[in-house]
Amino acid sequence: MLTKIGIIGGGNIGGVIVQEIAKRRLSRSIGLVDVKPPDMAMGKCLDIAEGIPVINTDITINGSKSYEVIRDAQIVINTAGVPRTVRPDGSIPTRDELLAINLQITDTVAEAVLSYCPNAIVLSIANPLDAIVFRLFQRLNIHRSRLIGMAGVLDSARYRYFIAEAAGVSVENVNALVLGGHGDTMVPVRSCCQISGIPVEEFLSADLLDKIEDRVRNAGAEVVGLMGTGSAFVSPAWSAIEMIEAIAYDKKKILPCCVLLESEYGVNGYFVGVPVVLGANGMEKVIEIKLADVEKQAFDRSVEAVKKTVEEVRKAVI
Ligand code: APR
Repeated sequence: MLTKIGIIGGGNIGGVIVQEIAKRRLSRSIGLVDVKPPDMAMGKCLDIAEGIPVINTDITINGSKSYEVIRDAQIVINTAGVPRTVRPDGSIPTRDELLAINLQITDTVAEAVLSYCPNAIVLSIANPLDAIVFRLFQRLNIHRSRLIGMAGVLDSARYRYFIAEAAGVSVENVNALVLGGHGDTMVPVRSCCQISGIPVEEFLSADLLDKIEDRVRNAGAEVVGLMGTGSAFVSPAWSAIEMIEAIAYDKKKILPCCVLLESEYGVNGYFVGVPVVLGANGMEKVIEIKLADVEKQAFDRSVEAVKKTVEEVRKAVI
């Protein structure tokens, strides 16, 4: 069992992650830090701690506005950042439009990790995902196995959900992968999508699959538009939990994650969503799969979009 998991950012996503770690007893203790006054993290953790006798979970939960609270965490999850929200004129920002503000926050997060848990495996959720993970890599300078972005698990869950709904089958029967960047160019990989091992095309028409894949690409904005304030938070938190469980239990689970590519998929030096093996050492292996021609082209386009945001990161003067 892990002794400690740290969470940076105790807003919507961070709050659900703390609850789920507690419920599932994924570590002996949790440290949550958030800068929100007067001491939002402490308040949130006190609320959860006061409930754990009811769910019979004997773990220690500490919240604080001081980063000290994540000291010695073995896994640290970064949710610190501003989420997307509907603007007063009704428009919805892209994830990339969060870059400037979230980059500043990311530098503080990196400093905290270096000071208090430099050996932790870092899972990052803040958007724009691929660029923020790249920035963390610049600042932390750690081996790629210890820095992993969460997006593919969520995007693939959305794909699975829409397919299950359209086919009228259990979500448990649907296997799906979404690769590439976590933006409008993400690539739902139809050739990997199966219902109980049977190719999805045997259940749904090409036309309907096109529509579903479009919906997957815009699923984040759909939720932002409906909620009015803030962005999706339960599904991203559960997605991160699936990754934490894979690491905590050394499952060697194959999940789509945003990791540094070193020549795999013809990409070098960029963080992009691909299937990887997650285990006790973090990202233990990149799995290279054969994509259909049209999927490979879409993947390459998505990588180009990731490179563009990374250029913004490189140029950013903070
Ligand atoms: N250190 C710690 N916490 C911070 C910092 C910082 N430097 N800066 C901001 N935070 C905190 C905020 O105080 C807030 O409580 O991060 C929290 C973010 O929570 P929410 O605003 O509720 O956002 P959430 O929905 O949880 O999304 C967090 O994940 O999916 C992405 O786009 C989303 O970038 C956003 C992030």
